[in-house]
Amino acid sequence: MQSHLACFNPACRARFDINDVLYNCTVCGGLLEAKYDFSGADPVALKKTWRERRMDNSPLCQSGVWRYREMFPFLDDLRHVVTLREGNTPQLNAPRAAGYGGLARLTFKHQGFNPTGSFKDNGMTCGAAQAKRLGMKRVACVSTGNTSASMAAYASAGGLDPLIFIPHGNISYGKLAQALEYGAKTFQVEANFDQILALVRVLAERLGIYLLNSINPFRIEGQKSIVIEMIDQRDWRVPDWIVLPGGNLGNVSAFGKGLREMYETGLIDRMPRLGVVQAEGSSPFYEYMAAKGLQPFHAQEHPETLATAIKIGDPVSWPKAQFEIENSKGTVERVTEQEIADAKAVIGQCGIGCEPASAATLAGIRKLTAAGVIDRDADVVAVLTGNVLKDPDYIYRYHTGELTAPNGTPIKSTFGNKPIVVPNDAERIGQLIG
Ligand code: F0G
Repeated sequence: MQSHLACFNPACRARFDINDVLYNCTVCGGLLEAKYDFSGADPVALKKTWRERRMDNSPLCQSGVWRYREMFPFLDDLRHVVTLREGNTPQLNAPRAAGYGGLARLTFKHQGFNPTGSFKDNGMTCGAAQAKRLGMKRVACVSTGNTSASMAAYASAGGLDPLIFIPHGNISYGKLAQALEYGAKTFQVEANFDQILALVRVLAERLGIYLLNSINPFRIEGQKSIVIEMIDQRDWRVPDWIVLPGGNLGNVSAFGKGLREMYETGLIDRMPRLGVVQAEGSSPFYEYMAAKGLQPFHAQEHPETLATAIKIGDPVSWPKAQFEIENSKGTVERVTEQEIADAKAVIGQCGIGCEPASAATLAGIRKLTAAGVIDRDADVVAVLTGNVLKDPDYIYRYHTGELTAPNGTPIKSTFGNKPIVVPNDAERIGQLIG
């Protein structure tokens, strides 16, 4: 077997066919991952091929995911690919945010520049391709909003029927609007993310629907391209740290796997450290890691945060995330609602902007530099996971001093920028401008 699925649990490692419709190991219930034989890989030739593809206008080469397909060779027929030219996201220097984060320099890799405005597109193009390869007709996911927006777009673009399940009243309108516009059948369920995931797994099994949550190993394969593209854009110079927000913990699992495979194939000469940041009211992984193995993993029954993208109390991928954090000598931090809101406004002042969950990165970096975990001179890339326009309601409330944390505490509008209502009077407006 060349490419195959394998159980992630080191005590099991059962193997399955790449075409099996499975989300967990049938032997031990562990998480699954795609495995390949990279023994013949030539890093110099791969780097050259990937550069040449940037000059090629074919859809597969213009995709910032499929350009790197040698690193996830699970498809036998590339005609199954559904691409909206995902990836190709910029790395932006942000001196002001660096200063706020206690760093000499800081780069943001902005996944919000993706076709549906979040990093989910990197994984969804692979998940949708596998769905088509398997001959599936319907695909489903539970989502805090971005996965559903992305799945709706890729399914519709690829002629699949998207079914979306979201926690009623708990996702931003920007994301809900995308699901409706891209033609998904959308169910607003009166339950939280973790409860709905259990429900959708039952429905998928019962109705033969293909599940496209990040428990799907092919989503993870696509999300590896975020770190491959990142390091390619840096001419293969490895950063000291890569910092990202953590919710269901699929993305950190993908980054860790991608980096390990790059290291094993000789594409990079060392591993960067991974930093995951959670919202304080929704931080089961932080608590587990802080207990240093003295406590089992405890799900949080009622996670709370205004960063709704990462409002998840029972993240499915925590065993993978734990492995990748430990393997990369990384760390996990958590930040308050106020810290997220202020960091987000600073990212906005850089002319960059992002959604609340993404800003947890800068808030976390500020704490980690203050604690001496990240050095002031470290070379840090923070991954902004979603576009600024995903949650405009949050932005308006912050700047006008109307934002309140889930526990009722008002959020201070530290970097507030209120709109000014004026009469239609040039004299008066002139005075206000000064
Ligand atoms: N940032 C954003 C903007 C997200 O939408 C998510 C997850 C994360 C960070 C966390 O990533 O789950 O891989 O740790 N959103 C999922 C969704 C859960 O349904 O859209 P993770």
